[in-house]
Amino acid sequence: MSSIKWEIINRHETRRVIVTRSLPGKRWLDILTGARCRIEICTAGRVLSTDEIGSAIGSACDGVIGQLTEGWNEHLFSLLRGAGCRVYSNYAVGYDNVDIQAATRHGIAVGNTPGVLTDTTAEMAVALTLAAARRVAEADRFVREGMFDGWSPTLLLGILLRRKTVGVVGCGRIGSAYARIMVGGFLMNLNYYDVRENSEIENYITEYGKFLRRNDVRPVTFTRAGSVEEVLKMSDVVSLHASLGRDTCRMIGRKELKIMKEDAILVNTSRGQVVDERALAEHCRTHPRFSAGLDVYEEEPRLACGLTLLDNVTVVPHIGSATRWTREGMATLAALNVAGILEGLPVWSDTEDILPFLSSDPLKAAPSIVNSEELGLLCYKK
Ligand code: DGY
Repeated sequence: MSSIKWEIINRHETRRVIVTRSLPGKRWLDILTGARCRIEICTAGRVLSTDEIGSAIGSACDGVIGQLTEGWNEHLFSLLRGAGCRVYSNYAVGYDNVDIQAATRHGIAVGNTPGVLTDTTAEMAVALTLAAARRVAEADRFVREGMFDGWSPTLLLGILLRRKTVGVVGCGRIGSAYARIMVGGFLMNLNYYDVRENSEIENYITEYGKFLRRNDVRPVTFTRAGSVEEVLKMSDVVSLHASLGRDTCRMIGRKELKIMKEDAILVNTSRGQVVDERALAEHCRTHPRFSAGLDVYEEEPRLACGLTLLDNVTVVPHIGSATRWTREGMATLAALNVAGILEGLPVWSDTEDILPFLSSDPLKAAPSIVNSEELGLLCYKK
């Protein structure tokens, strides 16, 4: 191995699991130790290059927990196969950094960590929405810079969310958790676009609307839009929750921004590449009443030129899932994915219901293996 430092746990075991960054909590270590693994954790505290990962894999490696900041490609999966590896788990719900077809070709199971990020990421999208609407980061800078010289009727006026329309693009787990908060908390109407109808959120809003009507309050409504453009045109706030793929890459560019309302808010907690970031920076510069709240960037950790100079853009450093509960839960799920495959356990099939894996006596299964069908892995029977 190179000069990179690795912490080794349970060194007497022969099943070798590499973890490319330190993870929070202890439970994940107990899971891997219980599965008779020697755990090698990279303590460099930075993103490893493909070459560095390649040399860490070496000639014998049974499993890996890796990061969304690493490109798990054909080359690395062929090295993993050569080293006898059977499982790789991404420490993330998204796996656009993983070449699943290559992993499958090499017979390697790929895990991810769904379910535990849902509410945490939705709450961050809400935080960014409010920060943009009420200019929170700009106001914070204003006070710190000593500019506050007393109350003023016209100081830092923002946008009221109550009763406006919230647009959600990609209404899966996180998108609908966000929608529930915005509809329930601010009585907003929902306009969503998703390739699949989301009957759960539709029923929730219908029932909530009935409840409001019974209480003599104007009900809230939902619309399932026929296109992303429709959502952009109709909404006061648009939050992006689509996963990154060929169809969603740079889905929001100059043309799309142009059709949004002059004072709309755009929030992105999905993947940076969903938005053409230069076009967004230019749009925010030329449309001062428009605002954006961003957690993710096209070329992380770099931000498009000029973005940070704009007061109508709130930026946070990809911390959508950064609560202790979620990050420890992600570590638990990633460890269970690796331990489950190495122990020959079946694969859990209901990624909507992942909480049983967080209990002190987790189900005897690998919680989420995205290529389990292609690899013909045995499914857990409830
Ligand atoms: C994920 O899991 O895909 C998130 O982006 C991590 O915060």
